[in-house]
Amino acid sequence: MHVRAATVDDLVGMQACNLHNLPENYTMKFYLYNALTWPSISYVAEDHKGRIVGYILATMEDAEEQPDGTPAGTKQKPHGHVASISVSRSYRRLGLAKKLMVQSQEAMANIYHASYVTLHVRKSNRAALGLYRDALAFTVKDIEHKYYADGEDAYVMQLSLKPQH
Ligand code: ACO
Repeated sequence: MHVRAATVDDLVGMQACNLHNLPENYTMKFYLYNALTWPSISYVAEDHKGRIVGYILATMEDAEEQPDGTPAGTKQKPHGHVASISVSRSYRRLGLAKKLMVQSQEAMANIYHASYVTLHVRKSNRAALGLYRDALAFTVKDIEHKYYADGEDAYVMQLSLKPQH
C-alpha cells in the first residue's frame, strides 16, 4: 500500500471510497474546490493496482478563536481541518489512516503554516476516536450537540502542529 498526495485525477476514487465508508458525503464540487485551493494537504492510499483504498480530505481555515480561547480578531492564525478520512474495510488496522493523517498534518504545518488542526467526529465512533485520541494525541475541545443529520453529537477535536523544517 502506497500513500501519496491526492491529485485531481483521484477525486472520483476518493468520492467512491467516501460513499462506501461514511454517511457524511460531499459533492464533486466540494472535492474539486479543496483539491484546487489547497493542493498537498489531501492524500490517498492506493493498493498494488492503483485503486484508492483510503483518503484524507483536508482544508485550511482562518481561526475564529485561538486554541487558548483568545477571541477572533486579536491574532488570526491559519489552521487545518480534516473534512473526511476513511479506509476501506479490508485495509483497516494496517496503519493507513495514521499515515494519511500524519502526512496531511506535516503538509498543513510546513506549507500553510497551520499551528493546529481540528476535526469533528461522532461520539460513538470508537475506531476514529482510537485513531485521533490514542494514536495521534488529539484532545476534545468542545461538543457540538446534534451536529450530524441523524441528531448525534460531535466531539470537536484538536491537535497542535509544529513545522518540521
Ligand atoms: N478500535 C480502536 N482503535 C482503533 C481502531 C479500532 N477499530 N482503528 C484504529 N484504531 C487506532 C489504534 O490506536 C490504531 O493503532 P494500532 O492498530 O497499532 O492499535 C491506530 O488508530 C491507527 O490505526 P490505522 O490502522 O491507521 O487506522 P485505519 O487505517 O484502520 O483507519 C478509520 C481508521 C479511518 C477510523 C477507519 O476505521 C474507517 O475508515 N472508519 C470508517 C470511516 C470513519 O469513521 N472515518 C472517520 C470519520 S471522522 C472524520 O472523517 C473527520
